[in-house]
Amino acid sequence: MIRQVPSASPINPMLPSPILPGAWLGLLGGGQLGRMFAMAAQSLGYRVAVLEPEPDAPAAAVADLQITADYDDPRGLERLGALCAAVTTEFENVPAASLMWLAEHIEVSPTAASVAVAQDRGEEKRFIEGSGLPVTPYALINQESDLSGLTESIWPGILKARRFGYDGKGQARVEGEESARRAFRELGGVPCVLEKRLDLDFEISVVVARSADGSTESYPISQNTHVNGILSVSAVPGPRVDPELAKKARAAALHLAMRLEYVGVLCVEFFVERNGTLLVNEIAPRPHNSGHYSIDACASSQFEQQVRTLAGLPLGSTRQHSAAVMLNLLGDLWFDREGKGPSEPDWAAVLRYPGARLHLYGKREARPARKMGHLTVVAEDPAKAREEALSIAALLGIAPW
Ligand SMILES: Nc1ncnc2c1ncn2[C@@H]1O[C@H](COP(=O)(O)OP(=O)(O)O)[C@@H](O)[C@H]1O
Ligand SMILES: [Mg+2]
Repeated sequence: MIRQVPSASPINPMLPSPILPGAWLGLLGGGQLGRMFAMAAQSLGYRVAVLEPEPDAPAAAVADLQITADYDDPRGLERLGALCAAVTTEFENVPAASLMWLAEHIEVSPTAASVAVAQDRGEEKRFIEGSGLPVTPYALINQESDLSGLTESIWPGILKARRFGYDGKGQARVEGEESARRAFRELGGVPCVLEKRLDLDFEISVVVARSADGSTESYPISQNTHVNGILSVSAVPGPRVDPELAKKARAAALHLAMRLEYVGVLCVEFFVERNGTLLVNEIAPRPHNSGHYSIDACASSQFEQQVRTLAGLPLGSTRQHSAAVMLNLLGDLWFDREGKGPSEPDWAAVLRYPGARLHLYGKREARPARKMGHLTVVAEDPAKAREEALSIAALLGIAPW
């Protein structure tokens, strides 16, 4: 039998040769995404340096080296740049100036420009609309007076700070002008976007990887449930994701990656309204919580893909070999109903389930709403994965759906 070998992409003399295992890869940020990046990079034989001000951050515990400095500390950046062959980031709020400075000396992906688009909800919306894709109706609110005289149809809304929000933080649900004015002041009077609060049917996301030669791969679509603005469950395949919706979402995500001339791993979050309309919610210039299932359910994980794009290696296969349901493990799990705790959940009982794949991030202190880890339940079919995930959720005392 003749084996099919994927044909190599045409050699582009402008592209640098790949950075091979043994080299140092650098990371700005030391959270759990960085930790999983470091593990994937090390498994491929790279060494990893993390620039992170917190001494015992999740990524720092596994990296070969931590440079304990602020993300914009010139000496820290210089050290990182001198050691590493390429640098990436694990969160979008890294100063764009740091990425730009590093890019003058070594490979940096994604670029400061791509990251900057995702750092500001206003810029992000303009970019998505400019790419011809629909977004939630919104208004830019730079000062309190911008809240008067808005079209009635925008209420009720969600007021979101343009910068530094995550996991539902920096957001307030508002009913009308009065409550929006109060919320604007409570958010500190910073520039905001006001979004119409939609009657969502469900939410999905797509993780894509794009390499410097323009080749792309996309992961199967996650169907996501959020509780209090924080991701709670991702199911892949999602029970509501039909092939047509999947095709549309994938095409939109790849289109955005191409428009950004993106190099790296990018996630696009979508809203699906009750009337079936697909809207782009936001983009994340990095691996995403809703793509964690790929570690246990796909040929190459989103973190391995981040390493491959950074090092200029061929993209890995995104083929899904198992159905998956991912449950986020928040700090609430460490406390009882009366708020007493913390005490370690019964992981031994969880691990009795054959499909349970536990990932804890090594955070010392459990706090309510803090992402402490995730658990992916893999199975041969989606119904089995869901059933086992429900049993484990009941065991842990969480209601993820
Ligand atoms: N305009 C909206 N209408 C309805 N639900 C929303 C809207 N905006 C956000 N949400 C809900 O809040 C979650 C978090 O909001 P998002 O804008 O994605 O911020 P974050 O950066 O915190 O992820 C969304 O996934 C969704 O469940
Ligand atoms: Mg989001």
